[in-house]
Amino acid sequence: MKVLITGGAGFIGSHLAERYLELGHKVYVIDDLSTGRTENISHLQQSEKYDGRFFFTHDTIFNDKVLLDLVGICDLVVHLAAAVGVEYILNNPLSSLKTNIGGTEKILELCHRFQKKVLLASTSEVYGNQTHAPLKETDGCTYGPSTKARWSYAASKLLDEFMALGYHRTEGLPVVIVRFFNTVGPKQTGRYGMVIPRLVDQALKGETLTVYGDGSQSRTFTHVKDVVEALVQLLETPEAEGEVVNIGGVEETSILNLAQRIIKKTDSKSKINLIPYDVAFSKDFEDMQRRVPSTEKLNSLTGFRTSIKLDEILNDVIEDRRSNLSRKLKDQA
Ligand SMILES: NC(=O)c1ccc[n+]([C@@H]2O[C@H](COP(=O)([O-])OP(=O)(O)OC[C@H]3O[C@@H](n4cnc5c(N)ncnc54)[C@H](O)[C@@H]3O)[C@@H](O)[C@H]2O)c1
Repeated sequence: MKVLITGGAGFIGSHLAERYLELGHKVYVIDDLSTGRTENISHLQQSEKYDGRFFFTHDTIFNDKVLLDLVGICDLVVHLAAAVGVEYILNNPLSSLKTNIGGTEKILELCHRFQKKVLLASTSEVYGNQTHAPLKETDGCTYGPSTKARWSYAASKLLDEFMALGYHRTEGLPVVIVRFFNTVGPKQTGRYGMVIPRLVDQALKGETLTVYGDGSQSRTFTHVKDVVEALVQLLETPEAEGEVVNIGGVEETSILNLAQRIIKKTDSKSKINLIPYDVAFSKDFEDMQRRVPSTEKLNSLTGFRTSIKLDEILNDVIEDRRSNLSRKLKDQA
């Protein structure tokens, strides 16, 4: 099978690309490297193990001609390209909306034209400021005002979901929609506000760990290995077509507790500094106090459950960030 992964040089996309190569498929990636990195995929391009089955196009999904060719030759499209990360969205509010709405519209339109199965990456952000737990796919979505830029990410992804479901219901397009809840693992950077790699980097460098608000806000975290497995299984499940499915972890932790665990695990002397949201970001920011997924639908569709514990997730990220930092230090010497 030929799989096209948009945003495949990014964090989740590069892990998924590797998995599909291991399964013996051909993988095509299009990525403009806005937040993705060539380091994420260089081992896939160079490895003899994958005997030339990996193809990378450095371009934007807004290049119609390139996208037309790629969707045309592939059997399956996994659409991950998006403006991602709270800090990135707050710093680039307009271009983020254009990518997340216009980009997805293009992908869906081409998948419809060529009748190709497509997976759309949505986010737990679409639940908005719902705080009950666990969050089910049938729950409502409630947002703050449009003057708070943070909600634009949630609203754009929700609109993507409506568009994908529209294509499925009116045109019969085989589409699977997944809502990722904080996915973490090797290769993720803290550059765009992702909490675990950012706190781990601070702890390893002996810097103060910056926790926003009072740190009582809680999240669950999913290892990218679990996420990739869930994606592969969902795409092999015909009953998942036309469905919206949460992919998330089950172990809930407050961000303050997370920072404390990271300090302990890295044996760091760092302290924790609580920074009010309006100082860390802007008045445009609002956080969600709690976000815990129901993963029953994923399990009932595929039989799969995410199982990698937060301890193992932290160990993997610490190891990855440690080797990344020592590589950087060597390069500077
Ligand atoms: N990581 C998470 O916890 C998480 C949570 C919820 C949703 N998601 C969704 O999962 C998907 C992948 O996220 P990720 O964490 O791997 O982030 P990422 O930033 O590593 O990946 C996104 C990729 O898309 C690329 N991209 C952006 N605009 C593009 C364009 N116009 N043309 C081509 N490529 C473009 C980026 O360069 C990047 O490589 C995104 O759709 C994101 O919204 C991720």
